[in-house]
Amino acid sequence: MGKEGNEWVVTRTGRAPSNIAVIKYWGKRDEKLILPINSSISVTLDPAHLSATTTVSASPAFESDRLWLNGKEVSMEGVRYKNCLREMRARATDMVDERTGVTIRKQDWANVHVHIASENNFPTAAGLASSAAGFACLVFTLAQLFGVKETYEGELSAIARLGSGSACRSLYGGFVKWNMGQDVDGKDSIATQLAEHTHWDDLVIIIAVVSSQQKETSSTAGMQESVRTSPLLHFRAQEVVPQRIKQMEEAVKTCDFEEFAKLTCADSNQFHATCLDTSPPIFYLNDTSRRLIGLVERWNRFAGKPQVAYTFDAGPNAVMFARDQEVAVLLLQRLLFQFPPLPDVELSSYVVGDQSVLKSAQLDSQQDLQTIPVPAEMAGAVMPLRTPGELGYIICTRPGQGAYVLNADNVGLLDPISGLPL
Ligand code: DP6
Repeated sequence: MGKEGNEWVVTRTGRAPSNIAVIKYWGKRDEKLILPINSSISVTLDPAHLSATTTVSASPAFESDRLWLNGKEVSMEGVRYKNCLREMRARATDMVDERTGVTIRKQDWANVHVHIASENNFPTAAGLASSAAGFACLVFTLAQLFGVKETYEGELSAIARLGSGSACRSLYGGFVKWNMGQDVDGKDSIATQLAEHTHWDDLVIIIAVVSSQQKETSSTAGMQESVRTSPLLHFRAQEVVPQRIKQMEEAVKTCDFEEFAKLTCADSNQFHATCLDTSPPIFYLNDTSRRLIGLVERWNRFAGKPQVAYTFDAGPNAVMFARDQEVAVLLLQRLLFQFPPLPDVELSSYVVGDQSVLKSAQLDSQQDLQTIPVPAEMAGAVMPLRTPGELGYIICTRPGQGAYVLNADNVGLLDPISGLPL
């Protein structure tokens, strides 16, 4: 194994973004291989604002595979971790680590344990899907460590899929399709990039994080129940989604915001309708979610064409797409008008992420919120309640790039000598 004894530790660090589906995945045809009943399309979120960072180390001195999530050690006994690790180990190649000069041969990897530490750059309590970024990052970073080369395009996405279905889409940037595939072994159930994030760089994404998180049914359990009991879900998968996938691919290709917005809202609403059609029914949206839908729908109707699209995953937080920066400013104003922060909260900690939208809106402090004009579509209408503190906070972001390697020395989460968390 090159260097003598058990002295060496090799380490790699990577980052992978979250993604938000605009044509939703909901329902599996194979639970073990995580094969979906329909294809889906997502937008990758800028990793600067929503991503997982993962460090993986390997050493003959490690006694077992170990995992730390956001600083806390958790069990690696889960079948999803085991499946990802097994598939990655099986693809390991001869590797020379430049930093340490260690050579590890293909056959040696089977006997070397790994330590894994992963962190999200957004609060996990926010209820924003973190498993997609986490599993994509795990597989991507293990590929760096083990020197795995894809033998077919999308092979790594098929392994990330074994961790969490939506994770397969987080390896790529921009606009991504997860092909449901047909093979029984899942080989063709892979993600492919439809377009880079730079292809449609007008889009701005604003996420309204709803403060009081209701207790959720996990996606995994929820979709099992829906597959078992919802006739609407099967109609959706067979009759609705195939057509929508084609239409969404075209909307992305031509940067057609009107079509993109119509499809995105309709698909989110249909997904939540299938949840309601499940027995017992699943409620992911709450009153705040519905008030956010109302805000967007009222404005879009008043404007005569869609300005903003909304979508909700398995939780109450709204992910909204503004057609450009100008509309994003108007959206942020509307959100702050209807959902201001509590009086003691700094505006800069209430609106986080890409600060350029807040700057363009010329909003520096809570006092400036008084200057926001009554939105045109509300003038003369029944004014919706203004409810300080109803939202936890707001994240401004954009479509972003896919997974990447972090090379700098000071970014790792594990000590390069001991392989333990820093
Ligand atoms: C509503 O990928 O979290 O976010 O495959 O069981 O891990 P598992 O489920 P998961 O489900 C995501 C569901 C969704 C829609 C989507 O991302 O497409």
